[in-house]
Amino acid sequence: MPVNVAVIPVAGKGTRLLPLTKGIAKELLPLGRKPVLQHVVEEMQDAGVSDIVMITSDGKACIEDHFRHDQALLDLLHHDNKHQLADAVGFLSAATSISYVLQQQQDGLGHAVLCARDAVGDQPFVVALGDAMIGLNTEASLCKRMLRVFDDNNADAVIAFQHVPLTRVNRYGVAELKTGYVDGDEAFTLTDLVEKPSADNAPSQFAIAARYICQPTVFDHLEKTPPGVGGEIQLTDALRSVIRAGGLVLGVPLAEHEKRYDVGNFDSYYVAFIEAALADPHCGGAVRERLLQLTADSVN
Ligand code: G1P
Repeated sequence: MPVNVAVIPVAGKGTRLLPLTKGIAKELLPLGRKPVLQHVVEEMQDAGVSDIVMITSDGKACIEDHFRHDQALLDLLHHDNKHQLADAVGFLSAATSISYVLQQQQDGLGHAVLCARDAVGDQPFVVALGDAMIGLNTEASLCKRMLRVFDDNNADAVIAFQHVPLTRVNRYGVAELKTGYVDGDEAFTLTDLVEKPSADNAPSQFAIAARYICQPTVFDHLEKTPPGVGGEIQLTDALRSVIRAGGLVLGVPLAEHEKRYDVGNFDSYYVAFIEAALADPHCGGAVRERLLQLTADSVN
């Protein structure tokens, strides 16, 4: 069954990035020439998704502004013979529709996804976190792989995972794997999921990496999920409940080239920004030279 819908939660207040995010949504922070959220939307388009449901909150009108079709701007750019720029601005394909659902209170990622229930209806859907992208181009190879694994196995959910150092497991949802997984396998079966465990309690070093595909039954589990870590309703806990009910939840590890870029906190945002600048086809070379100079100066 094709997956046509993606839920993109963008309601978070971005408190880890204050004061930067006081007036700018963190999802609109630039990575190269586009805001991170545009990279995510293009990734969804490339994966064949046509309906995007953004879960938003008060103070995020700038997101709707960015994704609103602006014919006057397009006409102006074409009139000035800036056709390439017009293509970059008109990045939404005609087949893509974006709708917005307001999350009234900030009760966590699980609650944000539950807000999409009416908009999604009774069909499988992707969840793509709006503050993280995979790889520096829009090629949606991870998402396409996850969709194939989801379909081939008739899974209840498929989740992307990255291997992280033990010192960082407490920032993520972490997988417990069924025995038998061998490094290099395309997917593994989950026997449990733990949200933000301590290093001592982590069942593995496989951390949830911002992309999920779920059957709509996950909404029933979300309805019954009590607040967990941080007093918030966690998507991880609902998926754990799917596993405990006998559901098939599979993990797809990121390939080596599928690096995850996260703008949720300053350290990862700075690195992501620099890498995106280095990858810029026009300015990347000059940025690289200047960085080499700066780092050489700081060593000497
Ligand atoms: C959320 C999820 C967590 C996941 C992380 C990155 O955490 O709850 O399981 O590992 O995103 O995808 P957050 O970063 O919102 O605290």
